[in-house]
Amino acid sequence: MKRICLILALAVLGFGTAAWAFHDGGVAECSGCHSMHSPVSSSYLLVATDASSTCLACHEGDSVRSYRVSTAESYMTANPTDGPLQKGAGGDFAWLRMDRTATASYGAPLSFFGRNQGHNIVALDNNYVVDSDNATAPGGTMPSSSLSCASCHDPHGRGRQTGADGTNPTIQVPTIGATHDPIFDSGSYGAEPAPGEAVGTYRLLPGAYYTAWGAVSYPGVPAAVTPGEYNRSEDTTTTRTAYGFKATGPEGYTSWGRWCATCHPDMHTDNPGFKHRVDDQLGSTEVANYDAYVMTGDLTGSATSSFTSLVPFAMNTNNIQTLAAKAVIDDSDLNGPTTQDRLACFSCHRAHASGWKWAMRWNQDAEFLTLGGAGAPVYPGTDAGLGNQGQFNTGYTIEQMTDAYYGRPATKEFAAHQRVLCNKCHIKD
Ligand code: HEC
Ligand code: HEC
Ligand code: HEC
Ligand code: HEC
Ligand code: HEC
Ligand code: HEC
Repeated sequence: MKRICLILALAVLGFGTAAWAFHDGGVAECSGCHSMHSPVSSSYLLVATDASSTCLACHEGDSVRSYRVSTAESYMTANPTDGPLQKGAGGDFAWLRMDRTATASYGAPLSFFGRNQGHNIVALDNNYVVDSDNATAPGGTMPSSSLSCASCHDPHGRGRQTGADGTNPTIQVPTIGATHDPIFDSGSYGAEPAPGEAVGTYRLLPGAYYTAWGAVSYPGVPAAVTPGEYNRSEDTTTTRTAYGFKATGPEGYTSWGRWCATCHPDMHTDNPGFKHRVDDQLGSTEVANYDAYVMTGDLTGSATSSFTSLVPFAMNTNNIQTLAAKAVIDDSDLNGPTTQDRLACFSCHRAHASGWKWAMRWNQDAEFLTLGGAGAPVYPGTDAGLGNQGQFNTGYTIEQMTDAYYGRPATKEFAAHQRVLCNKCHIKD
């Protein structure tokens, strides 16, 4: 079912996004989101009930499209043993719909709630409601009831990157009394502006000119480049998004950790309290571990083949050319980190949602990601014939577990009895 949809979508779409361009890195056609005389919302003249529903009118669907970030509820209901379809780096919001129950191997009933697996954007037309467990952003004060796509993305994409040819990339934003370079394309895929032109910010993510909520502004724009074909299964090759790093400063950029910490200040090592480091450079120990670690029980890896999109890191640059060279889908660059490269929140989390608790990239809620079937790794799904393995499958089928790992078969990057991926940097398994 799923495969047919994918093939159909590719046949219709081709791989490019050109035919479907809407934002083109900046503000799209106003009428895509606003109606002057017959709006549906009660504020901002929007074409749907609220900001997130307006976005999901295009960004949700029942098949794979390059730019979709949510699988329609109708698809999920009709295909109860499938996982959500979209595999962008941010993650499919439909994981938030996946409530399930399971039985642990030791007999205990276990409940898992989709809402604990990411950012519960309020999109009433699409049946996404406010998170009933987190009243505010953990480690911060932003009210969950205000969380929308427009909390994290500037719907008007006013920020832009100039000088992307390598010399001093700078963020500009329209300012009365000053001039600014017009945006000609998305800033997400490595397009380079000629002098006098600009590209958008990565994923229309906002900087200092934008208020996340209340009076709190972002410290800057984070840097990254992703391959054009980012919404794809990683069953054979990895989709490498190249995240960058530039400290908060007059150029208008910021680190990824500080960007997330706009709403989660107390999760960042900048603020008092003892917590896992973020934004810091990886030590030589962690780099050596990352390179050597292939899977539980196999430490024979090398620096040129160690990258996995399940544990990404930020490169120590915001140069679009340098990042673009890394953003590949054919495994032509699987180089691991250098000691200049950095930890980020997304080394462990996804930005939207995931199949696992806390929007983690892997199941951090149990000791094993896989079990061993006659020595070979298997996903212990509810349909794997392994009996009750609820603490490891969290109520998912084999297909849903495969989807949660972006299409990777259990045999691709995992050992039998694979342990959590903290071990990629720490080798405690
Ligand atoms: C991709 C969808 C989208 C497009 C395209 C869009 N807007 Fe908006 N606009 C929004 C959303 C969503 C809000 C509400 C923001 C919020 O919830 O904070 C908004 C709010 C506004 C506001 C009021 C708040 C503010 O920021 O000043 C104005 C004015 C506005 N838009 C004008 C425009 C104009 C003019 C265009 C076309 C040039 C346009 N918009 C295109 C989604 C869009
Ligand atoms: C009318 C349909 C439509 C609406 C409404 C819409 N989008 Fe999009 N969006 C698209 C399409 C098509 C693309 C891919 C082509 C492009 O980027 O122009 C896209 C791409 C994007 C991207 C990736 C852009 C990049 O350059 O990397 C983001 C982020 C995004 N949309 C966010 C939003 C948000 C947030 C809203 C609501 C405020 C929204 N969109 C509303 C159709 C839409
Ligand atoms: C908590 C902040 C946050 C919220 C809320 C959010 N986004 Fe995103 N979004 C991001 C970040 C960060 C990325 C870049 C992820 C990456 O590359 O790892 C992203 C990526 C995307 C992309 C590119 C595809 C992908 O999966 O990477 C699209 C399209 C998009 N967002 C649209 C939306 C829409 C539509 C909504 C609301 C339904 C939304 N976002 C809500 C932060 C957010
Ligand atoms: C605009 C504010 C905002 C930004 C920016 C933001 N978050 Fe959140 N985040 C929230 C809110 C509000 C909640 C609580 C609502 C919920 O859990 O659905 C939350 C919840 C979370 C959770 C807990 C999810 C759960 O289900 O328990 C994680 C993990 C998280 N955020 C990580 C991140 C990461 C990583 C980034 C950066 C990519 C980020 N956040 C950026 C507002 C934000
Ligand atoms: C080394 C991996 C790692 C990094 C880096 C990381 N986190 Fe987490 N995060 C986790 C784990 C694991 C949990 C589950 C709870 C725990 O162990 O504290 C979690 C939980 C959370 C929660 C939910 C807490 C709750 O009480 O529900 C939020 C929000 C969050 N992280 C945000 C962030 C943000 C923002 C950053 C970056 C500034 C970040 N995390 C960096 C691994 C990480
Ligand atoms: C991308 C690499 C990376 C990943 C993945 C990662 N860590 Fe770390 N971790 C680091 C780095 C770098 C340090 C700092 C080492 C130092 O200060 O010398 C660190 C430090 C630690 C420390 C020691 C803290 C201290 O100050 O003494 C603990 C404990 C830890 N990590 C646990 C975890 C756990 C648990 C996970 C998985 C949820 C995890 N790490 C995932 C890179 C990583």
